[in-house]
Amino acid sequence: MKVTVVGAGNVGATCADVLAHREIANEIVLLDIKEGFAEGKALDIWQTSPINLYDSRTVGSTNDYSKTAGSEVVVITSGLPRKPGMSRDDLIATNAGIVKTVTENVIKYSPNAIIIVVSNPLDVMTYCAYLNAKTDPKKVFGMAGVLDTARYRAFLATELNVSPKDIQAVLMGGHGDTMVPLPRYTTVAGIPVTELIAADKLNEIIERTKFGGGEIVKLLGTSAWYAPGAAAAQMVEAIVRDQKRIFPVCAWLNGEYGMKDIYLGVPVILGKGGIEKIIELQLDEAEKTLLNESASAVKSVMDVLDNMNINA
Ligand code: NAI
Ligand code: 2OP
Repeated sequence: MKVTVVGAGNVGATCADVLAHREIANEIVLLDIKEGFAEGKALDIWQTSPINLYDSRTVGSTNDYSKTAGSEVVVITSGLPRKPGMSRDDLIATNAGIVKTVTENVIKYSPNAIIIVVSNPLDVMTYCAYLNAKTDPKKVFGMAGVLDTARYRAFLATELNVSPKDIQAVLMGGHGDTMVPLPRYTTVAGIPVTELIAADKLNEIIERTKFGGGEIVKLLGTSAWYAPGAAAAQMVEAIVRDQKRIFPVCAWLNGEYGMKDIYLGVPVILGKGGIEKIIELQLDEAEKTLLNESASAVKSVMDVLDNMNINA
């Protein structure tokens, strides 16, 4: 069973490494446009196999999509980070051009692939991939909620001095500062988090989560990769092992939460078929307001993409 990761940069290579190390796929194709880059990363990953004792094989490709043929899942991480002097619209145009070409090539060689988009701006790049894949939206979705929820859970684990394994949480909305962490749906080994932490401390953690990506950019001068790569690999695992895991995923809404024709982070069941079900939570009025605000922010960026006519 084959999984392709497009983009052998920080996130893509980390994702491939996790997929190999945990034997989530037996063949992992890492593809990049930069000559020799994916081959080099793939070789380095493969050379960890005798040390880490696994036999999943990682191979590299410089833009040769024939090597990706028949992939069950494809993770798209190709794209530029925002550079000084680059407007948000410039970034959308550049990355949409990349995601469009990549998606067309992926679908040409793997018409039945499930596509997980990681490239930013996430919600809109997922929409871009959907427009170009011309396939069922249950098979095209984005990774953000698994990462954002992991950040929220890690901050809570530190604050409460408990194992992160015991923290369960749901987070909804777009991948940005309008994301909606949901304390009402956060538990620690089944105990509502609100019984364990003061309201002001919890609010601090929620705010930190919303800006969790920026916190790392400030520290590193570039965006995170260990947690994003692992998050994408966890989604691949749920699909290839048909685990029916429940994760927050950037999914195409068709009436759920009263919204249509928008990609937004919502809890879903992930299995062999991709998104097998979107779970509709009984949100209260305050939660609904936050989700609607987040949806408006995402929609305005989707409109920017539509107006560029890149996907015509
Ligand atoms: P990176 O710069 O390390 O890697 C990107 C790779 O894409 C480069 O190796 C580049 O050569 C390759 N690439 C560019 N155009 C390509 C094309 N047409 N075909 C194939 N490969 C191409 O960047 P990094 O840190 O890996 O991040 C990748 C993307 O993921 C960025 O857009 C970043 O903002 C996003 N990201 C999203 C997260 C999320 O939660 N959804 C979290 C972290 C990063
Ligand atoms: C992150 O959340 C920048 O989307 C990237 O780390």
